[in-house]
Amino acid sequence: MIKKKNLYYPLDEIKKRAWANNPQIYREAAKNPVKFWEKLAKELFWFKSWKKGFLHKAPYFKWFLGGKINITSNIFEKNILGFEKIKNKVALIWEPESLEEKPTILTYGNLFRKVNKLANALLKLGVRKGDRVGIYLPMIPEVIISMLACARIGAVHSVVFSAFSSQALKVRMEDTKAKVLITSDGYYRKGKIINLKQKADQGIKGTNVKKVVVVNRAGNKVGMKKRRDFWWKDLTEKENDWSRPKVMDSEDLLFILYTSGSTGRPKGCEHVTGGYAVQAYWTGKWIFDLKEDDVFWSTADIGWVTGHTYSCYAPLLNGATFLIFEGAPNWPFPDRWAKIIEKYGVTTFYTAPTAIRMFEKLSKSLLKKYSFNTLQILGSVGEPIDETSWLWYFNEIGKGKLPLVDTWWQTETGGVLITSLPGMGPFKPAFTGLPFPGVKIDILDEKGKSLPAGKQGALVILPPFSPGLLRGVYKNPKKYLKTYWTEYSKKVYFTSDTAYKNKQGLLRIVGRVDDVIKVAGHRLTTGELENIITAIPNIAESAVVGKPDKIKGEVPVAFVVLKKPKSQKKVKKEVNSQVLQGIGPIALIKEVFIVRDLPKTRSGKIMRRILKRLFTGEALGDLSTLANPESVEVIKKQLKNSL
Ligand code: WTA
Repeated sequence: MIKKKNLYYPLDEIKKRAWANNPQIYREAAKNPVKFWEKLAKELFWFKSWKKGFLHKAPYFKWFLGGKINITSNIFEKNILGFEKIKNKVALIWEPESLEEKPTILTYGNLFRKVNKLANALLKLGVRKGDRVGIYLPMIPEVIISMLACARIGAVHSVVFSAFSSQALKVRMEDTKAKVLITSDGYYRKGKIINLKQKADQGIKGTNVKKVVVVNRAGNKVGMKKRRDFWWKDLTEKENDWSRPKVMDSEDLLFILYTSGSTGRPKGCEHVTGGYAVQAYWTGKWIFDLKEDDVFWSTADIGWVTGHTYSCYAPLLNGATFLIFEGAPNWPFPDRWAKIIEKYGVTTFYTAPTAIRMFEKLSKSLLKKYSFNTLQILGSVGEPIDETSWLWYFNEIGKGKLPLVDTWWQTETGGVLITSLPGMGPFKPAFTGLPFPGVKIDILDEKGKSLPAGKQGALVILPPFSPGLLRGVYKNPKKYLKTYWTEYSKKVYFTSDTAYKNKQGLLRIVGRVDDVIKVAGHRLTTGELENIITAIPNIAESAVVGKPDKIKGEVPVAFVVLKKPKSQKKVKKEVNSQVLQGIGPIALIKEVFIVRDLPKTRSGKIMRRILKRLFTGEALGDLSTLANPESVEVIKKQLKNSL
């Protein structure tokens, strides 16, 4: 990379190779974003072209109106590379957790047959266009096959992270009213078998789920309920290996993915077929510069949006080869991830700052074993990356030669909206970069005035937004309006992040302004955790905040007010057993502080912001508006004694 005034620019050879290397695209896109996206959309295969590019009836909007499309046709029969060309090409490499087990390698042709077989089986189970199908699977090829089979027949998939608890599954299944759930007997996690089927059985109790498809993954013993539960193999084996793609309207739902919002209950983000396909295809192509001989590895689990877009749809739409891994990147040895990069000649590596910080801790001598010379692009996502980690990733893994794309986006946006492009840059440590061509971003003050460079404010997206942005919160229009379109106006999408830009217009994301916390890149909300904790009979009140953590970015800590005294150790145990049941291991509370009183406003609102500042060392601010300012002093003393 060429360094000029603290900015990095790609070398000529990278520039030349890149799909996007002409700054003219930014100008063209800015001139008329709708026309620009329409031009991009034309590269995909549509059964019928759209009549109108964009329609805005705030807070609702539509893209490619009247267009007819199926995302799987764009992956298979009508792939941009041509089906003849890709049918024998590797689509998917699956690396199992165990080192003894063989990987699975599926060509586009094989994957297509499997998708069709399952699609036909789902049709026989009564699944029709628009029906929701729950997918509760680990990182195994069947999770990709399941999503694509749903998309093939027009069913709406709703994937639930396999490490989520049965309670979390239940909440989502109740909301979507899915008739069918696809799960597995179990999966491997750090050498142990997790009995997923048992969790699934509990999670669907009392819901609408009538049929369960079970993948035989771990071979653990599971109960199969007659006429409700079916083994995947039995259902699909004899099915026809072709299934007609359902002709979908551009605005028909493709999937619902739940995410934590500002309140206790997760929100179902609605993503639609046409716009999402366009965004996944083009962000994959330009940001990761996907080429025919690439091996793309995005480490995110499929249960999160990064998994949906970059461990499934984007590489497939681009006809690339991608890798999915069942296990943890540091198991059974800390450099497992590096070994995988080496084993498969990974060219594009996309991971979260938490993982980067974990890798950074490894000894130099351990990493010396690896040349990383197959890598061409490095990516980061999910949480702000600090300058030290950025430079470590760039220098130690990228050897100072590779573009490092720090990509900002959200479950709601469906695809990346801010990042510098690899063929153009510029890259600056800890800055995500420029808005993707065709995306209008602004930074506003409290009154909605656009702020100049250097000033921090609310990050917003302006019309025409982007084709992949969510169209609604499933069955909850009020929440959609309130969360995204009320802070400024019905025409301004509020991201809940704060940011600022530098003189070159590069954006730096500072963090969330709502109650969302990012724990190892996973999105959680303090409200959801508090609901779970206060369900414990002996807990009168609780406040959860994110405490800065060197590796995970943030970890949740809880302040609790007890009804009857109990030891801290016992309370923590109780709290965490409740959290495990309510969400899962990713949300475990790191520390529990028993306090007498929580700081509150006069109207009774708990001031989490103040509690958070006790950990960040920021000034506490004016406490006089609190109903009980003295509570802060008490907690402060308590913390001093316990830390
Ligand atoms: C944060 C993940 C800084 C941000 C794709 C956003 C980031 C939230 C970055 C969405 C980044 C995501 N730099 N912060 N590159 N990417 N975030 O829905 O706060 O899990 O609002 O989507 O993660 O999290 P979500």
